Amino acid sequence: MQIDVSKTEVVSVYQMLVGLVAPRPIAWVTTLSASGVVNLAPFSFFNAFGANPPVVVFSPTLKRDGGKKDTLVNIEANGEFVINASSEKHAELINISSKMLSPDESELNLTGQKTLESIRVKPPRLADVPFALECKVIQIIPVGHGAISANLVIGEILTMHIDDMVLDEKGQPDPRKIKAIARLGGENWCRTQDLFQLERP
Ligand SMILES: Cc1cc2nc3c(=O)[nH]c(=O)nc-3n(C[C@H](O)[C@H](O)[C@H](O)COP(=O)(O)O)c2cc1C
Repeated sequence: MQIDVSKTEVVSVYQMLVGLVAPRPIAWVTTLSASGVVNLAPFSFFNAFGANPPVVVFSPTLKRDGGKKDTLVNIEANGEFVINASSEKHAELINISSKMLSPDESELNLTGQKTLESIRVKPPRLADVPFALECKVIQIIPVGHGAISANLVIGEILTMHIDDMVLDEKGQPDPRKIKAIARLGGENWCRTQDLFQLERP
């Protein structure tokens, strides 16, 4: 099968893309609206891209009606966000927090998640997660236009909060304890407990 993207419906391209480029880690992002509402939403167009400075990118795409998601609106307004870890115990709640609410409603109420103050940014971080990364925006790059077009939010991590309980004896993040989950295509998600080790050549 081949797909000529230029002759294919956007939604079909999207479905194929997320089924192929998988698994994707999930950023559970907290932002703050201009009127002080804490927004919480998951994004799997997400990864880390360098360490000096530490850089993450995630993409709140435009909605099917071409409008901006609350997360993007908030970040455009104040340039700050927190990436909260997505682990197994929160799978259902992460999914629930993807519900489209109006900008004046908080997904914190929907999910019962408690927050803690961040140190370097105004959006709070989630209290009950293995780690949280406070970020400030370096640049936002819109790519394309219309439904499901990307907005690359490039962020610099200012502070990393890591629960000591998820570190191994060498002080490194232990995947067996973080229990990250990731997104594949359709309604498929995956766990990360089937580990194997390779030595770097
Ligand atoms: C696991 C998961 C991953 C998601 N990844 C993305 C993504 O990368 N980009 C995106 O725009 N929407 C993604 N969504 C959908 C958003 O979470 C959803 O549109 C949400 O309502 C946006 O919230 P907001 O309007 O409060 O920013 C994802 C949903 C789930 C459940």
